[in-house]
Amino acid sequence: MPGSSPESIDAALVELAAGRLVGLPTETVYGLAADACNDAAVAAIFAAKGRPSDHPLIVHIAHAEAVDDFAASIPPFARLLMQAYWPGPLTLILPRREGIARAAAGGQDSIGLRCPAHPVAHTLLASARQRGVHGLAAPSANRFGRVSPTTAAHVQDELGDALLVLDGGACEVGIESTIIDCTRGTPVLLRPGMHSQAALSAACGTAVLNQDELPALAPRASGTLEAHYAPNAKVRLMPAKALQTALDLLGADAASLALYTRTKIHPPSAQVHWRRMPADARQAAHDLFADLRALDALQVRLIWVESPPDTPEWDGVRDRLRRAAAS
Ligand code: TXA
Ligand code: MG
Repeated sequence: MPGSSPESIDAALVELAAGRLVGLPTETVYGLAADACNDAAVAAIFAAKGRPSDHPLIVHIAHAEAVDDFAASIPPFARLLMQAYWPGPLTLILPRREGIARAAAGGQDSIGLRCPAHPVAHTLLASARQRGVHGLAAPSANRFGRVSPTTAAHVQDELGDALLVLDGGACEVGIESTIIDCTRGTPVLLRPGMHSQAALSAACGTAVLNQDELPALAPRASGTLEAHYAPNAKVRLMPAKALQTALDLLGADAASLALYTRTKIHPPSAQVHWRRMPADARQAAHDLFADLRALDALQVRLIWVESPPDTPEWDGVRDRLRRAAAS
């Protein structure tokens, strides 16, 4: 359904009020949304994704004022992050207000909150709020462990045509939000996205730490599991030179193989599919999941990917590719 028409928004509100699910465009990836305070509707999200119900979901809110509906307290550094980055692709984990959104939080005493910038998401969230729906729980609208969807068509491919999906076009960012845990007294990066750690630290006046700089965290976020974002084909990451050497060795034996590289590669045979990864990190993030889906659709057994540069603007893309290659 065209996401921005008032009729579509009304239809989505009817679904949500009935405890059903809606495919929701955001600037990062598409979400699978339900009323965050309706535990039965939230259970339907876990069932549709095949996701374990103790993996907490992100709750999306219309604006920063709605944080108080869900969070018991907000440290000053978290407020600064909200001011700097909301609406936008940043999720904050905060202490959860007792008795609210328990199922969405996967039973945790914390809650992940994000205020998305996509106009369709904003319109739906603001209209829902007027009808007493305080927020929408929405994980990425893919089956558990698979590649996240960045178009409405990807969502219907993953979850079927019966689901109402608001079509908001291709997602601008293309990889999921940056997640910062704000429950540990100091900001901790749980999942890299398109905001650099240096910029986040500057915005909140406190160094944003990596998880390994603190004692082990429980629980792990599913987007931070070692193997995630996996296509059907086996993904392998390697530098361009090693990749070219391996290809030359394979020679005419190379079959059922696709390449995804920034560097121009010389495939040894016409059977090898080659797709170019954008040289710009933002564009690469934007295209990443759609390109992995397109390569997977060729039904190759292997996807060889050139390792992204080891610089901060590539953190998010490097993270997703590393996990895609871990299964
Ligand atoms: O960009 C995004 O964040 C997208 C769009 C739809 O907003 N959503 C998304 O949701 O990526 P999902 O469920 O695929 O990933 C959410 C991540 C999970 O890894 C989850 O474990 C973590 O957020 N998370 C949510 N609440 C949490 C909490 N209370 N404590 C720790 N991790 C949490
Ligand atoms: Mg996900």
